[in-house]
Amino acid sequence: MYRFLFSLVITRVPAETAHHLTLRGLRAIQAVPGLAPLLRRLLAPRDPALAVRALGLEFPSPLGLAAGFDKDAVAYEALGAFGFGHVEIGTVTGSPQPGNPAPRLFRLPPDRAVINRMGFNNAGSEAAARRLRDRRPGTVVGVNIGKTKVVPEASAAADYVASTERLAPYADYLVVNVSSPNTPGLRNLQAVEHLRPLLAAVREAADRASARRVPLLVKIAPDLADDDVDAVADLALNLGLDGIIATNTTIGRDALLSPPALVKETGGLSGAPLKERSLDVLRRLRARTGGRLTLVSVGGVESADDVWERVRAGATLVQGYTGMIYGGPFWAHRVNRELSRRLRASTFRTLDEARR
Ligand SMILES: Cc1cc2nc3c(=O)[nH]c(=O)nc-3n(C[C@H](O)[C@H](O)[C@H](O)COP(=O)(O)O)c2cc1C
Repeated sequence: MYRFLFSLVITRVPAETAHHLTLRGLRAIQAVPGLAPLLRRLLAPRDPALAVRALGLEFPSPLGLAAGFDKDAVAYEALGAFGFGHVEIGTVTGSPQPGNPAPRLFRLPPDRAVINRMGFNNAGSEAAARRLRDRRPGTVVGVNIGKTKVVPEASAAADYVASTERLAPYADYLVVNVSSPNTPGLRNLQAVEHLRPLLAAVREAADRASARRVPLLVKIAPDLADDDVDAVADLALNLGLDGIIATNTTIGRDALLSPPALVKETGGLSGAPLKERSLDVLRRLRARTGGRLTLVSVGGVESADDVWERVRAGATLVQGYTGMIYGGPFWAHRVNRELSRRLRASTFRTLDEARR
């Protein structure tokens, strides 16, 4: 049904308009008393074998919604009700900013992919903190932070620290995003000599801002060379970080089937074409860190089989975004249900046992 609607109706609406309409629908659901809890009873994962304990938190399923969908923390409650085991809000920046001029979001249906150059459009970390202060319980909420575009690279740490101080008290976990291709110079912060002081400063700020030890993760790009992936893994261990999220979107455009005019659009590519590299990076991180970090795998996850493959490769948590664009509102619910079946058909009793 969704596939039919998608090809006939949804693809006729510009991608960003469809996104705003979806968010509006989710907010409307949250505004009706009792509706989100009802949906949660119907759609949220309930199979105890899928539950994951990680980062000191309980996740009802390993599958979460990746950053970028609910940038301003306006719809995480409804998204959790639709079956996501966690929702990562953001990227949130120190100051509010409009992002890049539209159009900045493009669907590539023949590739089951998306190109975006949103550029961290968001209302800023103060606004996000105001929203999260009155957080309703029930959904694990991660907070992904990034650099305000106009802040020079040399002052990046202060911008991340400001957001950390505002948001750490309300975040179940924090993510330092240094991997979006749409903020000039941002990915340079992945180099260890920049990343070390940045992560250390964010860790200290989080500890100042919250009496609880807020788990801290770093999100990396798929376009890092293998040696650089290793270097980030070593640094994460060295600094006592809690985990790594791999990966963000790619600037690569290999072997795409969509019209060249679309493929040429500037921005980060997500979805099916990212699957292989994202899995490679996960395997590399697993080999390098040997189970000492929580690995969150994201990029090209479309099905329960994909989630299963990531878990078997060492991921504790798995995230998706583009899979939901093509899979529709019940995507997470469906993946969870099929994942339960996949698990029951295996020799393992729980996902924790299945993880390598
Ligand atoms: C429209 C769009 C916006 C995104 N915005 C962000 C963002 O603000 N911060 C971030 O860390 N990742 C962002 N991402 C990347 C996703 O979180 C994810 O890492 C990437 O899309 C790969 O996963 P997927 O193939 O399941 O989409 C965005 C992705 C898309 C498609």
